[in-house]
Amino acid sequence: EKITFDYSKAAGFISDEEVTYMSKLVEDAKKQLLDRNGAGNDFLGWLDLPVDYDKEEFTRIKKAAEKIQGDSEVLIVIGIGGSYLGARAAIEFLRHGFYNNVSKEIRKTPEIYYCGNSISGTYLQGLIDVVGDRDFSVNIISKSGTTTEPAIAFRIFKEMLEKKYGKAEAAKRIYATTDKAKGALKNLATEEGYETFVVPDDVGGRFSVLTAVGLLPIAVSGADIDKLMEGAAEGRKLALEQKFEENDALKYAALRNILLRKGKSVEILANYEPSLHYVSEWWKQLYGESEGKDQKGLFPASVDLTTDLHSMGQFIQDGSRIMFETVMNVEKSRCEVTIQKEDVDLDGLNYLAGKTMDFVNKSAMNGTILAHTDGNVPNFMVKIPEQNEFYLGELFYFFEFACGVSGYLLGINPFNQPGVESYKKNMFALLGKPGYEDAREALLNRLK
Ligand code: PA5
Repeated sequence: EKITFDYSKAAGFISDEEVTYMSKLVEDAKKQLLDRNGAGNDFLGWLDLPVDYDKEEFTRIKKAAEKIQGDSEVLIVIGIGGSYLGARAAIEFLRHGFYNNVSKEIRKTPEIYYCGNSISGTYLQGLIDVVGDRDFSVNIISKSGTTTEPAIAFRIFKEMLEKKYGKAEAAKRIYATTDKAKGALKNLATEEGYETFVVPDDVGGRFSVLTAVGLLPIAVSGADIDKLMEGAAEGRKLALEQKFEENDALKYAALRNILLRKGKSVEILANYEPSLHYVSEWWKQLYGESEGKDQKGLFPASVDLTTDLHSMGQFIQDGSRIMFETVMNVEKSRCEVTIQKEDVDLDGLNYLAGKTMDFVNKSAMNGTILAHTDGNVPNFMVKIPEQNEFYLGELFYFFEFACGVSGYLLGINPFNQPGVESYKKNMFALLGKPGYEDAREALLNRLK
């Protein structure tokens, strides 16, 4: 079993010859990626990560995770974008659906909370209240080491740690994941003696889940990071070695671009398991930040189903015909909950007696796929055999590889993000950061 891509339900929208034509283009894009002669080729470290990573650091990650598990009731993970979404996606996909809320006996590992992914003081104060006077540690993650959101959150939690434990002990509870040599966070870590982990130079934030960026928080949650890497290595093997006909990542890259070129400008990633919500958030960043350039690209959107069938479902079925849908289907549910028979069938559900909730969920999924197809929304499916570390590793690699190939097909550089700088410049100018004085006046006038 493996992660597979199925476009059989979209057959009515795409002809075989279109697939044949596009298969040549994706093979070329793949070659460009593997020959490392395309745009952004200094950011291709993720390609080999599953088989070529720092083993010494990997062992240190496991050791640090064990220490945190032993001395902390709570881990605060500080990071934004690519320095946050992968870890959260993995922990929610792999661990208990109510991870922070179930008893310690069930969870066994520290509660994990995320911050530095907004600038809300209300959110941060709420989190401080949740930590209370319990023992905690902090993993601050920032490749550049200068991103405003995590830097502010870190300043606050660092002060809290130092007040609670004193400077020396606090330093032993802070783990910094950042560049190996440069940036404010690296300097601070060296100065204060924090344990540090490295975001490799050639791995961009949104491709960094399989580095210490994702691995430390994932390991703290009790998930098996060896299995995660094994799955990613399998995903890499499949993506690199298989010909188009058997290569699911290449097929996904090809098919989504066929639809884009026919005027479908939105891809909706759908799941039927709430624990996949953050996989979709991770995927949106991966594709949105990689492909949305030069006034091109598919807009990546997501829905949680069946939840959103009672809200966005109307639009998908019947609104502007601008989208296609990619369903992530977890084939084997983690839990079987059976619907019982009642003597008096007041709620009219006895026709489901003896059936599992997963059977109902899959029926909803299959019915929805056909309904959306009838409503002119082509449907793709990414099949995930089950929710475990191995298949998640394979899934991460599947989406990353398809993203690199798809970006080259589109004729953009999938590995930079020049567009994210614009808001920062304005924000710094408005905040009065030294060096932004000129822009400040002009912006203040515009806001009058
Ligand atoms: O993918 C990216 O490059 C971005 O989303 C970054 O991950 C994000 O902006 C955080 O950057 P940093 O890790 O430098 O704080």
